[in-house]
Amino acid sequence: MKFFIDTANIEDIREANALGILAGVTTNPSLVAKEGVSFHDRLREITAEVAGSVSAEVISEDAEGMIREGKELAAIAPNITVKVPMTMEGLKAVKAFSDLNIKTNVTLVFSANQALMAARAGASYVSPFLGRLDDIGQNGMELVAQISEIFDRHAIDTEIIAASVRHPVHITEAALHGAHIATVPFKVLNQIVKHPLTDQGIEKFLSDWNNQK
Ligand code: E4P
Repeated sequence: MKFFIDTANIEDIREANALGILAGVTTNPSLVAKEGVSFHDRLREITAEVAGSVSAEVISEDAEGMIREGKELAAIAPNITVKVPMTMEGLKAVKAFSDLNIKTNVTLVFSANQALMAARAGASYVSPFLGRLDDIGQNGMELVAQISEIFDRHAIDTEIIAASVRHPVHITEAALHGAHIATVPFKVLNQIVKHPLTDQGIEKFLSDWNNQK
């Protein structure tokens, strides 16, 4: 499983990229709004920093508008992936982007059938939202497992991005259940680097080193 970072914050993206683990970035309108910057300018900065896929979401609700917006976004850099919501109109747009060889990430996926439809429309990625399903008492990870099994059984090459990741257990479980990618908030990336026994071990090694005779 590969790591994407789920943010539009350029400092966090640069810091995560310096770790050598970053295969891509996902943004959404809420994450961009939080930054208070021009969307296109920020995408230029991100795509200059990260070589992998950078998801940029359309806000139109009709296919025509999505296609127009998506073409503008895709023109910013070759590694832009157009993020499209899982709707009828979204699927039409995905089909159009697929014909134009523009990569797509179908977002707000909450069922295996939605993922299958998105894949068949030509999506490069589908994003099941784990945390938001867990929030309403459903099992987000079960969804990842179902999509993974369906894609394997039917030789579908659309990649599964575990999204709406909230904590370290989501990451381990997503990897075990067949997600190709987890898109992870910076805070959770920090959490998974750390272990209390690692910190204790470093402290002990240092104190033994400094107390040697
Ligand atoms: C990623 O593509 C999604 O936009 C993101 O993971 C949503 O996460 P949230 O449910 O924490 O807002």
